[in-house]
Amino acid sequence: MESKTFPLPNQSIILDFGSSLIKSGFSGQSTPSNFSPNIVGYFKNDDLIELRDNDSRAFLTSNIAMSHKGQLKLHHPVNRGRIEDWNELEGVLDNIFQQELNVDVASRNVMIIEQPFNPRQNRIKLSEYLIETCQSSGVYFVSSALCSLYASGVTTGIVVDSGDGCTTVTPIIQNRILTHSIQRSEYGGRDITSRLRHLLRLEGHSFTSSSEFEVVREIKEELCFISSDIQADRGKQHTNSFAATFTLPDKSEITLNGERFQAPELLFDPSLVGSEEAGVDEMFENALSLSDVDCRPVLCQTISLSGGSTLFPGFPQRFLNNIRTRLQPQFPLKIKAPKDRLLSPWIGASVLASQEIMSNLWITPQRYHSEGPNLFYQE
Ligand SMILES: Nc1ncnc2c1ncn2[C@@H]1O[C@H](COP(=O)(O)OP(=O)(O)OP(=O)(O)O)[C@@H](O)[C@H]1O
Ligand SMILES: [Mg+2]
Repeated sequence: MESKTFPLPNQSIILDFGSSLIKSGFSGQSTPSNFSPNIVGYFKNDDLIELRDNDSRAFLTSNIAMSHKGQLKLHHPVNRGRIEDWNELEGVLDNIFQQELNVDVASRNVMIIEQPFNPRQNRIKLSEYLIETCQSSGVYFVSSALCSLYASGVTTGIVVDSGDGCTTVTPIIQNRILTHSIQRSEYGGRDITSRLRHLLRLEGHSFTSSSEFEVVREIKEELCFISSDIQADRGKQHTNSFAATFTLPDKSEITLNGERFQAPELLFDPSLVGSEEAGVDEMFENALSLSDVDCRPVLCQTISLSGGSTLFPGFPQRFLNNIRTRLQPQFPLKIKAPKDRLLSPWIGASVLASQEIMSNLWITPQRYHSEGPNLFYQE
């Protein structure tokens, strides 16, 4: 994360608007200045009321909420890319602009990174807030996958993104997204955390409150991995082969075994949680088969992983092995899995927003007022 600097007047604000994390900063920077959990917390009692960042709001936002999470009822304003509570999200965004970035949005452009097939209503609400309330000089919505590919320095490839609320596969040829081939499934890291909580309950460990859910998320991020041979590992899961401990906030310890790989296995087998959607390897195969046959070999030469749920140890290798068995052997497959792939969309957008070509693409207040919501109904 880049340290706080005073932005130059021509630097645009870049927001990667994730279901769990908003990554924010300024164009031209190599990494975001800030990560804010896209979360708010309501007071369970009155003890914390003096911590309120805004008198009119009944909740704490982002990092402040997370640091008092045990005393709050937590809620995510965005669920699977869909803004569910605008009042909460406005609180989170105000906090990012005023406290974290310390920037006045007025007269600045704002680039917003979004997942494919997010509801159009998101764009309408966000533009209204940025242009009418914050007086931004322009907004632009850009595809998360396109930016991730940009971050790896190429313009053709397939981006496999698994975040908190959804998993997507997006083929791109020379900066052009093959919209008809995109695959999106409504599962991601949040579902893996839920499954881990369920598996831990079966072992006698109960995590019930919204703040305890965040503890399970931490356990997941520290101890879970993707099995390289799921049948063999399932055979050993009741031995101590996979035993690993996690220290809980009260300093007690919890030991995990087979749950460590059983929870994230849902990325490859969503039926484990009753979903009828395809696993991430099957999604890849589907995206490829919907792309023109001539393009398939070149697409497979850059398979770019992005998003937090591809960070599980073992994910890149298992994904590669699975798609190798699904595809014809002549396809040369090359996976790019940068260490900072949680940030790939933000990094690519930071480069894109600094380019001259952007000067004509921002949705200015003039365009916004003359064209209205029609703007967001164009592909
Ligand atoms: N090291 C890690 N190992 C496994 N999972 C991780 C790791 N770090 C973060 N995650 C998970 O990745 C998810 C967040 O990833 P990301 O920031 O890409 O999602 P998002 O952009 O907020 O969501 P989305 O794009 O789905 O709307 C969370 O579920 C988080 O628990
Ligand atoms: Mg994301």
